[in-house]
Amino acid sequence: MLDGSATIASQRVPRYTSYPTAPHFHAGIEATTYRRWIAEIAADSALSLYLHIPFCDTLCWFCGCHTKIVRRYDPVARYVEMLGQEIDLVAESLNGSHRVTHIHWGGGSPTILASADMKSLVDRLHSRFRVSADAEFAIEIDPRGLTPEKVSVLAEIGTTRASLGVQDLDAIVQAAVNRHQPLAVTASAVDALRSAGVASINIDLMYGLPHQTVAGVVNTVDAVLGLAPERLALFGYAHVPWLKRHQRLIDERSLPGPEARLCQFEAATTRLQEAGYVAIGLDHFARENDSLTNAQREGRLHRNFQGYTTDNASVLIGFGASAIGATPKGYVQNATPMRDYGAALSEGRLPTARGLALNDEDRLRRAVIERLMCDLAVDLGAMRAQFARPAGHFRLELEKIGALRDQGIVEVQDENISVPSRARPWLRTVCAVFDQYLDRGETRHARAV
Ligand SMILES: C[S@@+](CC[C@H](N)C(=O)[O-])C[C@H]1O[C@@H](n2cnc3c(N)ncnc32)[C@H](O)[C@@H]1O
Ligand code: SF4
Repeated sequence: MLDGSATIASQRVPRYTSYPTAPHFHAGIEATTYRRWIAEIAADSALSLYLHIPFCDTLCWFCGCHTKIVRRYDPVARYVEMLGQEIDLVAESLNGSHRVTHIHWGGGSPTILASADMKSLVDRLHSRFRVSADAEFAIEIDPRGLTPEKVSVLAEIGTTRASLGVQDLDAIVQAAVNRHQPLAVTASAVDALRSAGVASINIDLMYGLPHQTVAGVVNTVDAVLGLAPERLALFGYAHVPWLKRHQRLIDERSLPGPEARLCQFEAATTRLQEAGYVAIGLDHFARENDSLTNAQREGRLHRNFQGYTTDNASVLIGFGASAIGATPKGYVQNATPMRDYGAALSEGRLPTARGLALNDEDRLRRAVIERLMCDLAVDLGAMRAQFARPAGHFRLELEKIGALRDQGIVEVQDENISVPSRARPWLRTVCAVFDQYLDRGETRHARAV
């Protein structure tokens, strides 16, 4: 462990899936702004589409996602109609028929959708956009509700990557977070998906959950390695009960402290690397020959709201309640309350609730933070040159980074900054040095590690 690492681990910093981060979006960006921004998107720009499905069958007490537990299908069916209306509205606001290179379904649990609804939404996308024949089509899946019928629909609609939530296999941990999922459930989901032709499997694991131990995390990693996933994510549990009230169901006394969390992350990382997986960015792993690994090796890795990706589309359109989009002009986020989202659509308005217009300094810092999050390194001189900034532009940041260098978290050579692989858990703390919004407002984030 590094000097003072537990202190730094307990600092609160964002996850930097965007810069500026979502808590800084504001209500000044409205539907009219978003409509203008999308109308200005060049006809030859590739689009990435995100569909948010905010429903699940049961509540995992650790859940930090925007989702709702439903016992009946009616609210889901109504939501599918609203999504269809939103897809139409956005497509009508675009100038031209744009090419789509990535589609991502997230949630919640998108596989809660009835097969007919899933197919009709995909048909809608195909009728409104030019979806490339080789487009990536990724979907987040709760293996507990995956029926053989859903698997064949996923294959039929062209799914190329399935991302399965597992978290931890220990029965005591599963009971403490209300997520009961024996390994056999995940294994049969993986088998069925592969047999149906879904070529790439990602598995989500977590550390820092109640009652988790290093031995338990390593057991989970070993068991999951038996399923030979193409990729894995290893998320640190973000305990934010002031934002997610249901997390109060978790007994805080059973949560591992910052040092224990670090040990869990390090043990899992070692095990995954021994098994031949390459560490990607902050918290992902991929096989040596995976497209994510190639992208990282070649400096082409990107980070967006869905995590690490090879997606280099300059425009991300988010559909659904709370969904976030990114255009060259700035970020937009849809209304989160279902009634606000639905009300806007029934009046024929885009359901935009907040957003942020990017200025040139935001773009520079966004590029610096994205390179750090993806490459664990950035050449500030090259960035300054690209954005026409004078020498000394990052003087204050380089001074602040001195303290992190003394703790072994960064290496600095002139304006080249790099984070050694063993200091990966502190990557977000290094990025935070470049974040001009961090000290503004009252936002509280989860701990760094
Ligand atoms: C939308 S869920 C994945 C699909 C499906 N809903 C499931 O849970 O199986 C996305 C992932 O976010 C991660 N996650 C959820 N809540 C989190 C939290 N509070 N902190 C860190 N990661 C979290 C979990 O690893 C989860 O698999
Ligand atoms: S972790 Fe996944 S399945 Fe569990 S409540 Fe959250 S979104 Fe739903």
